[in-house]
Parts: sequence; C-alpha cells; structure tokens
Amino acid sequence: MKRTTPVIPAEEIAKQKEYCAQLRTLNAQRPIPPKAYVDTYGCQQNEADSELLRGMLCEMGYEITDTDRGADVIVINTCAIREHAEQRVFGNVGALVHGKRKNPDQIICLCGCMAQEPHVADRLKQSYRHVDLVFGPQRLWRFPELLRRVLLRRGRVFETAPDDGAIAEGLPVRRSGRLKAWVSIMYGCNNFCSYCIVPYTRGRERSREPEIILNEIRELAAQGYRDITLLGQNVNSYGRDLEGGWDFPRLLEAAAAVPGDFLLRFMTSHPKDATERLFDVMARCEKAAPAIHLPFQSGNNRVLGAMNRRYTREQYLDKVRALRARIPGVVLTSDVIVGFPGETTEEFEDTLSLIEAVRFDALFTFLYSPRRGTPAAELPDPQTRQEKSANFDRLVEAQNRISLEKHRAYIGTAQRCLIDGAGEDPRHGLTARTPGGRLVHLDGDPALIGRFADIKITDCSTWALFGEL
Ligand code: SAH
Ligand code: SF4
Ligand code: F3S
Repeated sequence: MKRTTPVIPAEEIAKQKEYCAQLRTLNAQRPIPPKAYVDTYGCQQNEADSELLRGMLCEMGYEITDTDRGADVIVINTCAIREHAEQRVFGNVGALVHGKRKNPDQIICLCGCMAQEPHVADRLKQSYRHVDLVFGPQRLWRFPELLRRVLLRRGRVFETAPDDGAIAEGLPVRRSGRLKAWVSIMYGCNNFCSYCIVPYTRGRERSREPEIILNEIRELAAQGYRDITLLGQNVNSYGRDLEGGWDFPRLLEAAAAVPGDFLLRFMTSHPKDATERLFDVMARCEKAAPAIHLPFQSGNNRVLGAMNRRYTREQYLDKVRALRARIPGVVLTSDVIVGFPGETTEEFEDTLSLIEAVRFDALFTFLYSPRRGTPAAELPDPQTRQEKSANFDRLVEAQNRISLEKHRAYIGTAQRCLIDGAGEDPRHGLTARTPGGRLVHLDGDPALIGRFADIKITDCSTWALFGEL
C-alpha cells in the first residue's frame, strides 16, 4: 500500500530493541533489578504513550514502580494543553531535585507535549539541570537509544527539534488495565484551532494501517479486554493519508466485526468531520458504545469562527439531531472553553443556551488559557478574570443541574454494565460503566469484575449512578 505518511523502517525499530537488549544485560548485572517510574499528565493519548514507555522500560530490564521514591529512572510524560497543567509539571519536576541529590545516579526524563515547546525546553536546559533527558512525543520510539546515550555518557540529551512525526509500529507495550485498553488509530492534528497547542506538539495527522489496528483489537479481544477505546485527536480524519478508501466509519465497522464480548469507544470527534455515516455505523454495530464525545467549544458563531472550528452553532445542533434520531439514548459529552479572547458575556450566553438546547450528559469546562505560539494568544483579551470566572461558574451550575436531571432518568431502569473495578467507598464495593460510559457504584462480589451484568439503577448524584445487581 502506498502512503504519504512516513513509516519508521522495521530496521530502525529492531535497532531500538537491540538497545533494549543491551541495557537489559547491563541491568541484569545489578544485585537487584533497577526500578522505573512513569508519571502521566494529560489526555488518553499520553496514557497510551506511557504504556509504550513502560513496555520499553520492561524490555530494558526495569521493574515498573508506582512511586518516584527509590526509582532509578523517572519519566514524566507531560501535557501542554493549559498553563495549569504545565505549572504542575514544573512544580513536581522541581521537587525531584531532592531525590536526585540523595541518589545522583538517578535518571530523570521529561517527554510528552511540553518537551516539544521551545520555551519549555530552554527553561529545562537552563534551570532544571537535574533533568537528564528531554524528548518530544514524535521521538518516543527512540527512547531506548536516548536513554542508553544518557546512561553510557552521563551527559544531558535534548531531542526537541520540531518534528512532524511518523508511524512507528512494533514497540513493546505494557498495558495498565486488563479490561480496558487504548488503541491509537492515528496521531497528530491538522486542524489548528486557534487556541490549541496540540498541532504544534504532536505533529501532522497520520493514520496507522487498518490491518495493524484490527490485529491489535483481535489480540485484545482474545485476551479478554472488554472495553476498547480508539484514540486520535480527531478520529474522524482517520484514513485521509491512506490508500484503499479507509475512513473512520469503515474502520469502526471493521473493528466491530472482530469476534469477542467487548465494547468499542472512540475519542475525540471533531464535529466538522462527524458524519451521518458515522452515526449510522454506531447505530447498526452492537459493539459500538452508544456514546460520543463531541466538543463544541462555544455556542456563538463569531467565537467559533475566531477559534477556527469550521462549523456553526446550527451545524452542530443539526449533527446532534441526526445522531439522536439514530441512537435516541446516546450519551453525549462535550468540551467547552469559557473566556476565549474577545468573548463577551453576551456571546457566552449562546454557549449557555446551547447546553440547555442539547442537554449533554456531561461537560468538560475549561477557562481559556493562552498558549505561546498559537494565534489566539495574540488576540486582545479585554474581559476580566472575574467576569470569566462568573461565566464559568454559571456554566458549571447549569450543567450540574442538567447532569443530575439526566442521571435521575436512569433511576428504575436496568442497564447492562461492565463491572470494571473495586470502588473506594466501602458501601459500594464495585464500580461499573453503563454502555454509554456513565459511572455506576454498586455492592457486590469482586469476583464479578470483568463481567457484563444487568444492574438496576436505584439512585444517583450529579457525577455517578448507584445501583444493584
Ligand atoms: N482533539 C480534541 C481536544 C484535545 S484538547 C478535540 O479537538 O476535541 C481537550 C480540550 O481542551 C479541548 O477540547 C478544549 O476544550 C480544551 N483546550 C484546548 N486548548 C485550550 C486552551 N488553550 N485553553 C483552554 N482549554 C483548551
Ligand atoms: Fe486542538 Fe483543535 Fe486539534 Fe483538537 S482538533 S487537538 S482542539 S487543534
Ligand atoms: Fe495534553 Fe498533548 Fe494530550 S497537550 S491533552 S498531552 S495531546
């Protein structure tokens, strides 16, 4: 199959595996196996990347731990989406200096989206001298080589030049869950929403080959995974760089044809590319969960234009109607930004009225955060922090009311849920997910974890449902 996206040659991946083997031999000479800790910030894509980092670390002979204390290698997989996320990372990375003083042989690595921001890489270079290795998301596949370079030469390594990215296949993976799994179907983003840093940190859109994705799903299904999420910044762009006429609805349908008892979810869908064909496939494939995360960002057309979202409020509402016509009980969630530069409170009212019109099941609300290098960060932003916060609070309040009302409607119904874990609350020993992905607390035998079961919903809160078997 001819394609436009560069693929890392198999020999290059084999070389990385060879580096892993070399380090494994070195590590095997130590009296006790060295420990590695991977800390993850940000989105599901980063969670999936961390599973690859852990896979590579295992191949290198490290034991994975869940704390930085006593770790020989620490990897911080970072997120750059908002200022707050970055500040947390700087705070936590700064604090690692104490551990490193006690153990100068410790290696501290920073990767993920922050590593791909030039001003962050500079700051790490100048002021965080205890960080040994910095590399962006597009260099993840080269982690064994980069870590080896640090280990053997004990110098600092920065691999942070701009990088459009390629497809790397065949890396080892160590998954965190045994019921739920992520499957990346594509990487990068070409949409350049004017507020967003992702296209600068994650490179250009590139799709994995359908056969490789489908094989991964087959393996996961055979291993007993019950809930598989297909990942991409905009899954609806899938296949544009592939030959053979592949697109996301076709991939979803092919994935749903894989035998096994599992549900398929996907994240994220850009509304401009969410088609009726996609909704048709969701409606007709039993394995496609009746859920979609469809970020609308703003309910005002001027703001949507300034955000470069390339759909209008009316088009968004039309898509929601088309979706609900096919899947009446579909669980619909979304993202919204409050306080985009130049947004007036009057324009914000359109966002409020949109959520009242749509009635999302849940909403992720964000205060706009300027990102260096994005067009929106250059726009005048006269609204005060107080006004933005007041609008933000109104939105959260309205959505909480709607979420609670939507949850109340579940009471008395039976839902076929995946029992997916042990709860933290002693009164509700188990957690489960409805097909649409809503959280259910219930009491029951932990031996049920991993089963689908009919659960009667008896009560609810704004954020969760409560039920019994
Ligand atoms: N690719 C996904 C979104 C990834 S970022 C998509 O397009 O849907 C997740 C969410 O973070 C976005 O939907 C947006 O609501 C929010 N976000 C992104 N950049 C932001 C910024 N600069 N300030 C505040 N919120 C932001
Ligand atoms: Fe960011 Fe827009 Fe791409 Fe989503 S689609 S990652 S919001 S640029
Ligand atoms: Fe954050 Fe990068 Fe994901 S900026 S949200 S980790 S793509």
